[in-house]
Amino acid sequence: MSQHGTPRRILITSALPYINGIKHLGNLAGSMLPADVFARYQRLAGRDVLYICSTDEHGTPAELAAQKAGISVQAYCDEQYEIQRAAGEGFALSYDHFGRSSRQENHQLTQHFAHVLEEKDLIEERISKQVYSVDDGRFLPDRYVEGTCPDCDYEKARGDQCDHCGRLLDPVDLKNPYSAVSGGTNIEIRETAHLYLLQSHMQETIRTWVETSKDWPQLAKSIALKWLDEGLRDRAITRDLSWGIPVTNPDGSIREGFESKVFYVWFDAPVEYIASTKSWAAETGQPNLWESWWRKDKGAENVEYVQFMGKDNVAFHTVSFPVTIFGSGEPWKTVDRLKAFNWVTWYGGKFSTSEKRGVFMDQALDLLEGDYWRWYLIANSPEGSDAAFTWEGFQSAVNSDLANVLGNFVNRITKYTVSKFDGVLPDAGTAGEDEAWLAGELETRLAALSDHYEHMEFRKAAAETRAIWAAGNEYLTRAEPWVKYKTDKDAAAVGVRTGLNLVALFGIIAQPLIPGVSEKILGTLNIPEANRTWPKADDVANILDALPHGMEIAAPPVLFQKIEDEQVAAWTEQFGGEA
Ligand code: 2FM
Ligand code: ZN
Repeated sequence: MSQHGTPRRILITSALPYINGIKHLGNLAGSMLPADVFARYQRLAGRDVLYICSTDEHGTPAELAAQKAGISVQAYCDEQYEIQRAAGEGFALSYDHFGRSSRQENHQLTQHFAHVLEEKDLIEERISKQVYSVDDGRFLPDRYVEGTCPDCDYEKARGDQCDHCGRLLDPVDLKNPYSAVSGGTNIEIRETAHLYLLQSHMQETIRTWVETSKDWPQLAKSIALKWLDEGLRDRAITRDLSWGIPVTNPDGSIREGFESKVFYVWFDAPVEYIASTKSWAAETGQPNLWESWWRKDKGAENVEYVQFMGKDNVAFHTVSFPVTIFGSGEPWKTVDRLKAFNWVTWYGGKFSTSEKRGVFMDQALDLLEGDYWRWYLIANSPEGSDAAFTWEGFQSAVNSDLANVLGNFVNRITKYTVSKFDGVLPDAGTAGEDEAWLAGELETRLAALSDHYEHMEFRKAAAETRAIWAAGNEYLTRAEPWVKYKTDKDAAAVGVRTGLNLVALFGIIAQPLIPGVSEKILGTLNIPEANRTWPKADDVANILDALPHGMEIAAPPVLFQKIEDEQVAAWTEQFGGEA
């Protein structure tokens, strides 16, 4: 709560996953998952959170994938959207809305931005020479023209770059060009018009904004400044494709000469953050609600906007999209805090669909529930540098952190209550030295944990969560209720009571990371929703004696299954591993 009693309002977006194919664990770890963990933490801490994501459905790859599958792009996207939505659900990603960039809301808003930018003289029509494939009946995007490198004569150079000599190319310079789509060699160089966004005119506005931004991590700031130092270049925001957002006049008719062109995917995708919020609002029955999140003249001035993304997306979010937003001259909300990630690698190399290296979201869920992956990926988040996925690392995180440190603790103390205290939370005895030690630990550690979340330090948050679970184990080693039980039942009762309260606390603090398991723990203890909110470090005395004395206790079902060496061997075989 702020000092006036209204909760902080936090808008969260994670980079929109491309529609063409289900995402691998690296994609998940570098945007959607940490955004979800952050959203869950902030909700528990009482903030008004809106977490928005969508599929990014335009662009050549979607068109080509549909062609390959032999279905329409629309049908392909419908199918893939459903797959990605279900995978998100399997990983318990708690979007307030998971939209689609191909929806009408995004068409309208993207076209609106283009019209306003043109009015402000920030969009200009320019004629350029481009490769036209007569066989395909279309202009070819740079990557889909191949031919002989004008420099080194390599015969399979791509339109944008020669992989042999490394030279950056202009596709019209290729010798013997052919279409990478159809193989057709009937190629002409034709003149065609495109819309250009005059980013160079916004150089100073963007630089001032980037330099004065307070809450960006170094990685994000340095990427933005590098682009600014190189000088912002005007860029084409239309492409020769049929799938995408049509280029219209303000009256809605198609712009002359743009009948077979659409907006470039990177022009419309970030606009979808706003458009997706519009769809969300429409679904809530309050169609104007989106404005209080995005329009500074309609209540969004007090919103904190946090974006999550992989480092390859940073320039688009810190430079290109802000050009659109600031260039419009309209009072849109811009990003306040930006969390960028490095890569999750597959044993130090690349995830690869074609070479069957790496695990994709749907496959992961076929092996184990989402929480196992969530824990491992956050505990090894690629924050400071790239982080390698290995089956061995995954096995050890699951077996040691989840099964041993958390699972055994919960199991041991609840089972003991059932067998020695008739399944009832005992009332006898008073707290002593061991409980004082525990309280001291928790005060420090809970404060640190909240701090890590506030600073979006996810690895540290997972490590601190684990450290709190470990402190619970150490407490039991010190308090030894099972030993005391033989001579002093009241002293044993204190240990059991405190232990059971720790079970509840452990379930509560695990909610952002492993929500499914938390639910099992808190559900078994019948902890009401209202009592599952984020614990305060200055409230430890209450936390350790929060559960009503005399309440009935059941032992939860087995929380985690350990990963055996045979499974690691089988999965390595199936999905690849170290070569
Ligand atoms: O890199 C990607 O996966 C893009 N689809 C991210 C888009 S983020 C946004 F701006 F829409
Ligand atoms: Zn070359």
